[in-house]
Amino acid sequence: MADLTTNFLGISSPNPFWLASAPPTDKEYNVRRAFEAGWGGVVWKTLGAEGPPVVNVNGPRYGAIYGADRRLLGLNNIELITDRPLETNLEEMARVKADYPDRALIASIMVPCDEASWKAILPRVAETGADGIELNFGCPHGMAERGMGSAVGQVPEYIEMVTRWCKQYYDKPVIVKLTPNITDIRMPAEAAKNGGADAVSLINTINSITSVDLDMMAPQPTIDGKGTHGGYCGPAVKPIAMNMVAEIARNPATHGLPISGIGGITTWRDAAEFMALGAGNVQVCTAAMTYGFKIVEEMKRGLSQWMDDKGYTKTSDFIGMAVPNVTDWQYLNLNYITKARISQDDCIKCGRCFAACEDTSHQAITMSEDRVFEVQDDECVACNLCVDVCPVDNCITMERVAPGEVDQRTGQVVPAEYGNWTTHPNNPMAKAAE
Ligand SMILES: Cc1cc2nc3c(=O)[nH]c(=O)nc-3n(C[C@H](O)[C@H](O)[C@H](O)COP(=O)(O)O)c2cc1C
Repeated sequence: MADLTTNFLGISSPNPFWLASAPPTDKEYNVRRAFEAGWGGVVWKTLGAEGPPVVNVNGPRYGAIYGADRRLLGLNNIELITDRPLETNLEEMARVKADYPDRALIASIMVPCDEASWKAILPRVAETGADGIELNFGCPHGMAERGMGSAVGQVPEYIEMVTRWCKQYYDKPVIVKLTPNITDIRMPAEAAKNGGADAVSLINTINSITSVDLDMMAPQPTIDGKGTHGGYCGPAVKPIAMNMVAEIARNPATHGLPISGIGGITTWRDAAEFMALGAGNVQVCTAAMTYGFKIVEEMKRGLSQWMDDKGYTKTSDFIGMAVPNVTDWQYLNLNYITKARISQDDCIKCGRCFAACEDTSHQAITMSEDRVFEVQDDECVACNLCVDVCPVDNCITMERVAPGEVDQRTGQVVPAEYGNWTTHPNNPMAKAAE
């Protein structure tokens, strides 16, 4: 059986599945139950500075986007950091860590952007025995307006400065949690590294309005007739998160900086994908909030089975393996030619491929009177839209035109060698370089 143990920043956990900082990790009761269910670690719901407790709204705090089967695809929230007293959280964390020494327990922190505030809270967190801290520079609502959360995460200089304070006043690992509400994720990641961060985690939630109540004419969730932007998460954000993880993993300036992957992870496969793109472990929030703590069982079983099938004995065998295959467009092989193939045995004759191709793309699929759909190789540019809109899995596939054969669309023999845009004859820059 594959060994799921992960060692992230020297913090060992029995599996790579941690719960992200959010309601599932808001209190001792939850975290104990999560550990009993098998989660490898938790990032405690973000702690704030000592003082009057944070005040949350008392109306609905979530909005949602659903798939056709009402499966939750995206979740929007306007919740703040923990609204429980700091002392209560610290006591609970200490008790839980003492009882579960083999699990990772990370304290998420968000306090005002001044040295005194960080200096004050860090020794208190250290006393709990937590394995490390995560700096919440990500939450996009409520706290950002007070100069915290994403208001810090959007300014690389602040990230670097606060990270430096934390490294100065705290001697265990410091993880910087990044906001995706920024143009180029590499900048805050570089700032975190420059400040001495041991790792980055991403993504926090994305600014969003999920829906508008057309009777009240207000965004949802609606609080007494008004709404505000929230933070978007869940399966819908996974592609955005994975791109950001990959961008950091392949950036020479942050290459090797450990990454904790977050965003829409619901299955073992999602986790494996994040890890292949360079995440040393993963964090989960929405999936646990949707399906309960026990989903971790399926995540562990699935990952372990897949690793066995692939011959990976430990997670480090495949972490980052996909990173060298993430490249820029200009380096893609333009001599790799494919054509769509429709399996007539699997086709249910719905005609979606035909409608999509005929109306919006390349007119490369014909429909006969008895609804037989066929690809015309001389028109097919291999865009993949027919594959994407076909409701039957694997009914339409892309088949490579072997080098040496003629591409019916261009009438040219397909070259055997790799050829990308940087050297392409139509590229004026390539000519200039000659
Ligand atoms: C209701 C809710 C509250 C959250 N609170 C926090 C928080 O206090 N601190 C934090 O760093 N992230 C918070 N997050 C963000 C999550 O930790 C996570 O980054 C995000 O939800 C993406 O992961 P997911 O797609 O698995 O949900 C919260 C998310 C939700 C849904």
